Amino acid sequence: MADSQQKREGFSSGLAVFFATLGSAVGLGNIWKFPYLTGQFGGGAFLLVYFICIVLVGLPVMLSEFYLGRSTRRNAVGAFEKLKPHSAWRYTGVMAVFGVYLIMFFYSCVAGWVYLYLFKAVAGDFAGITAAAAKAQFGSVVVGPLSPIIWQVIVMATVSSILIMGVKQGIERITKTLMPLFFILIVLCDIRALTLPGAGAGIDFLFNVDFSKITPPVILTALGLSFFKLSLGMGTMVTYSSYFTHDNNLFGTAVKVAFSDTLVSMLAGLAIFPAVFSFGMEPGAGPGLLFMTIPLVFSQMPLGSVLLVAFFFLASIAATTAMLSLVEVPVAYFVEEKGYGRKKAVAINAVVILAFGALAALSADSSALLGKYTLFDKGFFDLFDYISSNILMPVGGLLVALFVGYIVKKSELREEVTNGGAIAAGLFDLFYFIVRYITPALLFLVFLNSIGVVKL
Ligand code: PFF
Repeated sequence: MADSQQKREGFSSGLAVFFATLGSAVGLGNIWKFPYLTGQFGGGAFLLVYFICIVLVGLPVMLSEFYLGRSTRRNAVGAFEKLKPHSAWRYTGVMAVFGVYLIMFFYSCVAGWVYLYLFKAVAGDFAGITAAAAKAQFGSVVVGPLSPIIWQVIVMATVSSILIMGVKQGIERITKTLMPLFFILIVLCDIRALTLPGAGAGIDFLFNVDFSKITPPVILTALGLSFFKLSLGMGTMVTYSSYFTHDNNLFGTAVKVAFSDTLVSMLAGLAIFPAVFSFGMEPGAGPGLLFMTIPLVFSQMPLGSVLLVAFFFLASIAATTAMLSLVEVPVAYFVEEKGYGRKKAVAINAVVILAFGALAALSADSSALLGKYTLFDKGFFDLFDYISSNILMPVGGLLVALFVGYIVKKSELREEVTNGGAIAAGLFDLFYFIVRYITPALLFLVFLNSIGVVKL
């Protein structure tokens, strides 16, 4: 074990740590979830609630996961095992690995649609498209049955080939190249969208301040969103931080990643809504916005075809870098706990994800091949999403907060997160208080609400 620990890979600098971690946070969530919810739920007022959720839940859980990973230098299961040997706590890690699979089953399917749309944008398929044609195109993509599966395979082949190259040559090199490119592309889309006539209505939609829209269910939505956005409760941050440099400022990384991720969501909103309003369309949430509204709106504006390529390229980058962090969780687990070679671990995971991911791809629409089959009243696609986002994520985060707040020795925790007292030592007590009392209480509430025990 000592030998394999010495050979363990890691990121080579603070910048690499930042881009890899940001690459995990930035994903499809920034493009179809966050901007829409912000506009719908009170604009600036919702942003304020979201920031409070980040401070009370997002950052404390992220910092706790950083502690677990960096102090043990182990995977999501091994970290618990090392800190509390032979205890049931390791199942928190096992649950995270399981949750990662569920997310990947449907996330890889949506990523496949994004790749396909990039391909269509490059081929010029959206030129002069009408609303009915946009709808029909998306309908045929979702119903498949062959093309969603083929694109899901292409997605997994891409993710796997990056992961096989390892932590430095694969994850670090790719995220350090793609994240800056992502920023350039999104700013390009912003400039075009904001200079359209009538763009002001889109800015109003996003940044109006309406406190009357903030109700308890909206607050819970913001809380859940902050979790999904920052990739928490699924072992990804534990795994990535096990590759962090030993002198990395954990407080600083957590704050910078949360801030930059929110900035990206705002930039995405500014690229999307001014254009949508300028062409007199209604903004919708989710897949409809991404796959029907965007091609329709962008194809109508000057330079639109270039912009569509840029947009679906940046969406592909976001989805891919998020998936790297997801699949790395079981890969690190198989390599370290089961003794698999990295190549074999990546290949096995890709096959498992594709086998079950096909269930999601073939059930994303009720008229798809498996669209009629339901379990607990939900199709496979929705079921995977529901269990992972609404149950496993809050429960995973809750257990992480309880473990770090009550099981871990306070002195050891302080030593690790402050780098031996060198960094942000004054903030430690505040963090410790929040992670012991406030974070668990809020996450427990989210969980009770999502399983329907408490209705807020
Ligand atoms: N943060 C990603 C997004 O916003 O799309 C999704 C995600 C990645 C969730 C990794 C969970 C995770 F572990």
